Amino acid sequence: MFIAILGRQSHLGLAELERVYGSASRFSGTSAIVESPIDIQRLGGSLKAGRVIMQIPRASWRQVHTKIVHHYGDTWGALDYKITLGISVYGLRIAPRDIQRAGLELKKVLKAQDTSLRLIPNSSVELNTATSHHNKLGLSANKVEVLVVQGNDGSVIVAESTGAQNITALAARDQGRPKRDAFVGMLPPKLAQIIINLAAGQANTSSTILDPFCGTGVIPQEALLLGYDTYGTDLADKMIDYSQINLSWARDTLHAHGNYRLTQGDAMTTKWQPPFDAVACESYLGQPFSAPPSPSKLREVRGNCNHIITSFLRNIAPQLKSGTPLCVAIPAWRSTDGSFTHLPLTQQQELQALGFARIPLTTVSSRDLLYYREEQVVARELLVIQKI
Ligand SMILES: C[S@@+](CC[C@H](N)C(=O)[O-])C[C@H]1O[C@@H](n2cnc3c(N)ncnc32)[C@H](O)[C@@H]1O
Repeated sequence: MFIAILGRQSHLGLAELERVYGSASRFSGTSAIVESPIDIQRLGGSLKAGRVIMQIPRASWRQVHTKIVHHYGDTWGALDYKITLGISVYGLRIAPRDIQRAGLELKKVLKAQDTSLRLIPNSSVELNTATSHHNKLGLSANKVEVLVVQGNDGSVIVAESTGAQNITALAARDQGRPKRDAFVGMLPPKLAQIIINLAAGQANTSSTILDPFCGTGVIPQEALLLGYDTYGTDLADKMIDYSQINLSWARDTLHAHGNYRLTQGDAMTTKWQPPFDAVACESYLGQPFSAPPSPSKLREVRGNCNHIITSFLRNIAPQLKSGTPLCVAIPAWRSTDGSFTHLPLTQQQELQALGFARIPLTTVSSRDLLYYREEQVVARELLVIQKI
């Protein structure tokens, strides 16, 4: 059994795990369980992954502390190499000093057996992803991060990390790209991974991912890095030029070796050249707002976005084989009370009339597939559908 520590918008991470591994279940507000080993670098919505080594029913921290000291006191006694250990605790109401106490006790037990232990200090109960990543925790036998997670049912899982998100590589992919465009938007690579994974699910990597609104090419870039071939189109010639430059950089710098095609085209009328097996895109999101727009402005922008995205879906539907999966990021507007205004096309009957149905997800409600930062008015809603 394996555990993932989910990212800030945990519904997205959970849905991504379900699509990539076939099934997943929520364990706590910040974690999920899957049956297969998790490759953290392929996921945008999880921060850390680990292999479960024990699950203790309704446990207190005191019991967990004792079990950890016994387990690792036995496992690591008389090793001929030094262990670096980090401990992260999720959901139990304890202080960082409680974790340090357990670590120091283990250190003493191990010292008596001639094994030396370097403890990573906890400034908070959870080591942040940067600390885990920079210390290479989970990536070799002598660099260990123990993840202690209390579930919604009160039980506690103790897992050994198999790695944390590579935040250095993600930042380099985001900020190192030669062509960026603040007006078109800055799709974070993590969100691009989520969009691709929600579309492609368990598709094999010989598949081609189509992005009909490719902009500066973040989704095609991430698709290449996940091992897919990719095909990007955009209305603006300038965006195709930008994508060309960015993908050629990704090929040279990031060693993204798949095949890519890029052509100019209006998503409302283009006839895409096969083959393509899944569609992953961040569609037209309308203009950005720093405060919720007036009702009449919202009506205008919403109508405009709905028209473009509906026309795109109507155009692409007859070009897709039945069952072809799509994940389309579309806008949803957040009002001051925190509620969302969605596009009319998200209604089941509207989707059905266009030839699509939602891909059923058991772990999350489709309305929860929203990505936004606290200060943002325009959220991205991830529409996960398939051709009927
Ligand atoms: C939100 S941006 C996508 C940004 C992209 N994810 C990136 O990595 O830069 C939307 C893109 O849709 C394009 N677009 C707008 N209307 C379009 C249409 N009718 N057909 C194709 N592309 C369109 C815009 O030129 C813009 O690049």
